Amino acid sequence: MKLAILASTAGSNLPSLFTYIKKYHANTIECILITNKADAGAIEKAKQFSIPYFIVTKENTREEYDKKVLKILQRYNTEYIFMIGYMRIVSPLFVETFRNKIFNIHPSLLPAFAGGMSDTVHQDVINFGCKITGATLHIVSEEVDAGKIINQKACDISEHETVATLKPKVQKLEQEMLKELIHLLVNK
Ligand code: GRF
Repeated sequence: MKLAILASTAGSNLPSLFTYIKKYHANTIECILITNKADAGAIEKAKQFSIPYFIVTKENTREEYDKKVLKILQRYNTEYIFMIGYMRIVSPLFVETFRNKIFNIHPSLLPAFAGGMSDTVHQDVINFGCKITGATLHIVSEEVDAGKIINQKACDISEHETVATLKPKVQKLEQEMLKELIHLLVNK
């Protein structure tokens, strides 16, 4: 199975994912990483696991950018795409080309706190006074954070929770769901 990871940030979830793949699916899954950020921490994580990575610099339009990414994906015969901290909105062309094959992990229990990015979502959840939060794994559609929900996992929010303490708690849930998704896709 050919899997592409799209990431723009630190890639905190990647070591857990790559370790799982290496341990249980080394002969069945090939990964690549594509990022829009030359300084993304995710690149270092890919290097640690000898995962090929590609930095795609910006283009004039969203569609032109996505066509560059699609060219790489198609050259690698990519079957599935995981967006893990990918801070770009993809074009309808991109969604259509990989219809129902693109998965995103969002750090809240959608539809609550949709639209935000990573730390700001955790801060909004804390500011709102929520007692639980979690993560959502969903199919990427044309509408942001609105595709079919595949899985959700929740955790408590303690009285003195901060973004720094909440983010790793939620990311642990994200990593569990990503591994479960891999297992599902490989055994499809
Ligand atoms: C992910 O954990 C996910 O919640 C959201 O962005 C986060 C990126 O985290 N999509 P990091 O910067 O890679 O640690």
